[in-house]
Amino acid sequence: MKTLKDLFMDELADMYDAERRIVKALPKMAKAATCSDLKAAIHSHLKETEGHVTKLEQVFKSFDQKAKGKTCEATVGLLEEGDEIAAEFKGSPAINAALISAAQKVEHYEMASYGCLHEWAGLLGNTEAAGLLQEILDQEKAANETLTGLARASSNEEALGESDEKKSAEDSARKATAPRRRAA
Ligand SMILES: [Fe+2]
Repeated sequence: MKTLKDLFMDELADMYDAERRIVKALPKMAKAATCSDLKAAIHSHLKETEGHVTKLEQVFKSFDQKAKGKTCEATVGLLEEGDEIAAEFKGSPAINAALISAAQKVEHYEMASYGCLHEWAGLLGNTEAAGLLQEILDQEKAANETLTGLARASSNEEALGESDEKKSAEDSARKATAPRRRAA
């Protein structure tokens, strides 16, 4: 009979594979981004993601097991979809919005997985593992919030063709015509 511990180790191997795939995928996403804030956010999450691989190795160790991965089909699919959308929107003003959505789908998958892993580690009485998984979960949540902020701040406006440059050009045009209107 399979136990909660088996389920935990299975999901842990799934996330170990997922994180290593994400480490490889993030530099490609950063390269595809044209928004400098998005590029910086992806690079910063890449560093955290490398840390997640190490933290997961520590979680395996806390259960006296060697780290091993098991192909995470969900992450394979999400990253493939991300590649597709990035290729499709290359050169489009919507490229950053497309990349943000692809990245947020990965973050949400990770948040769901780490939420469960954290709870299960607690139920299994492994406080060290629970603590490490909480640290990863917090960073995934923060990364997701950063992406939401970027989507609101610029990328989605750019996607509509309302870049800062265009807006400031419109603003000065409005200012230039305003007095004339008043005079008439
Ligand atoms: Fe991660």
